[in-house]
Amino acid sequence: MNTIVSASILGADICHLGEALDKLRTWQIDMVHFDVMDGVFVPNISFGIPMLSAIRRHTKLFLDVHLMITDPLRYVSAFAKAGADRITFHLESSSDPRATLEAIRQTGRQAGIAIKPGTPVEDVIPYLSLADMVLVMTVEPGFGGQSYLPDTTEKVRQLRRDYPKLCIQVDGGINDQTAPIARQAGANELVTGSYLFQAADPFRAAALLRGDDSSPQAG
Ligand code: DX5
Ligand code: ZN
Repeated sequence: MNTIVSASILGADICHLGEALDKLRTWQIDMVHFDVMDGVFVPNISFGIPMLSAIRRHTKLFLDVHLMITDPLRYVSAFAKAGADRITFHLESSSDPRATLEAIRQTGRQAGIAIKPGTPVEDVIPYLSLADMVLVMTVEPGFGGQSYLPDTTEKVRQLRRDYPKLCIQVDGGINDQTAPIARQAGANELVTGSYLFQAADPFRAAALLRGDDSSPQAG
């Protein structure tokens, strides 16, 4: 499986977001990770539907929307209409997981299901047949710039062992030190915020995340 890097714009300079989005392709990144926080499911408030629409008008990149909100089912169609290509919600939210996955699929978008660090991997298994991706959170959701929680690696390893073809994303604290650990455990999608956007050379940083440190330098 090729490693995909999803750039979390929570880590970008929002005052220059258009420029940051334009640079992603030159860094060989094809996916934008859009973190939605409602201040209730997590102790922080981030971006919402109008901002996703604005990003959709600006870029053709794949929009990977991560809902950290209490009642995702209520907002599935709004995020789909705003331009999400994939909608990921939390198993720990108050929405019924099966109904939410089905609602996302009905919009024609990909469906992802996320678990927090304290949630056992077994809890997500009943929903895999309806999900295009499982997001194993490697920090507590809510803030960028946190440190990778090593105990989460085993959950990725277990999922990959039992589901060789499953799309497994990790999110939180991913950098050149932790990406190889997550990749070796079986993650094929890596979300990166602060590491990418604070890198002196983001092209090389993205290559290191993919495990491709021999890439020639971007022009
Ligand atoms: C955390 C968010 C992450 C965050 C990752 O709740 O879901 O997507 O932006 O940021 P870094 O890479 O800085 O840990
Ligand atoms: Zn996220």
